[in-house]
Amino acid sequence: MLMMSKKKLAEVQSMCDLIAELCVKWDLHNVIDFGCGKGYLSALLTLRHSINVIGLESNESTVSSAMSRFRKISKQWPVLKKRLTAPEYVVKETPGTFCVLPCTVRRDLNSDSYLEKPETYLLCGLHTCGSLGNDIAEVFVQNERNLGLCFVGCCYHYMEEEFDRRQPCDGHSMFPLSAYLRRKQFFFGKNTRMLASQSVDRTLREGRKRLDVSARSLFFRALLQILLVRSILPDKTDNLERCDPDEVRVGRIPVDLQTSFSEYAEKAGKICGFPAAVLGPECEEVFQQFKSVEVHMKIVNLLRIVLGACVEQVMLLDRLCYLEEQEGIAEVGLIAMFDPVVSPRSWAICARKLQQPVQQS
Ligand SMILES: C[S@@+](CC[C@H](N)C(=O)[O-])C[C@H]1O[C@@H](n2cnc3c(N)ncnc32)[C@H](O)[C@@H]1O
Repeated sequence: MLMMSKKKLAEVQSMCDLIAELCVKWDLHNVIDFGCGKGYLSALLTLRHSINVIGLESNESTVSSAMSRFRKISKQWPVLKKRLTAPEYVVKETPGTFCVLPCTVRRDLNSDSYLEKPETYLLCGLHTCGSLGNDIAEVFVQNERNLGLCFVGCCYHYMEEEFDRRQPCDGHSMFPLSAYLRRKQFFFGKNTRMLASQSVDRTLREGRKRLDVSARSLFFRALLQILLVRSILPDKTDNLERCDPDEVRVGRIPVDLQTSFSEYAEKAGKICGFPAAVLGPECEEVFQQFKSVEVHMKIVNLLRIVLGACVEQVMLLDRLCYLEEQEGIAEVGLIAMFDPVVSPRSWAICARKLQQPVQQS
């Protein structure tokens, strides 16, 4: 339906209805969709609610797919719209306009450059990954024509952190934004940010077996680290550079409760190029030495999942506090948008500025 999955359609429809409602309430007719991807949200805003939308997308091939997808859907729209419930909010009488522009958003994006007329805007984004979620908040604040804001973040592990000195800076808006955390020079670091991308709701819904599998995966990773430090680094083999434990990336190796550590280490070895001769005999030894610790790993794993939710809340609150701190902000809110079991990143941040300072010509 509408060339997207059922899950995506549910997310896009809820987000679309909320944005249309905000546009009507706040008397805004124009939307800029940050990181619009294939234009799922933007296209529906235009066709269903007659909103003028400019999508900004950094990936050029996605920009052309978004445009061709829009052309296809527009042709079929009279039929497609009958399959959706009638929109409660239609923003204006005349049909909306739609375009997607290639653009990598950074903190200093001048949204004026997209405006032909002195219009006012609501900025939106569905799953603004990593730093894009901070960029959209900062761009909203900087330009007086941006009067409304509504976005849902995701992929917090890609977010840049100002006070984590190990991270390169690429001109994006960086965590933290709020005055208090900035004073504290607060940062999480990549491993902690990874936790925020987990889903406590989904893991708990999936139950005990899912928890045991993720604890086993964590346990095997820890054993692998020990194995690497003990067996490979002291050897100073040709593989030394590739085997620095801080640099090793094993990615996601599928693990179930039947998988042995030897099998896991063998797969990891293939991915990362460890010498198999070193891994083989040591695997069983390391496993036997630490197998009693697996039960503790289950507790650590539970803590990681629960604290992951707290880390996400800190990131959301940082963005909210930053918006609250700005002059001329009328309201700021956090709205629960989606079923968190199906769509783990489910909170929308919304904000409105006090007045419309721009004279319409
Ligand atoms: C998670 S996808 C979401 C796409 C779309 N909003 C949706 O819900 O289907 C994030 C999109 O943002 C784009 N993106 C990420 N960072 C960006 C940036 N700084 N400027 C513009 N686009 C960006 C990516 O290329 C990707 O298409």
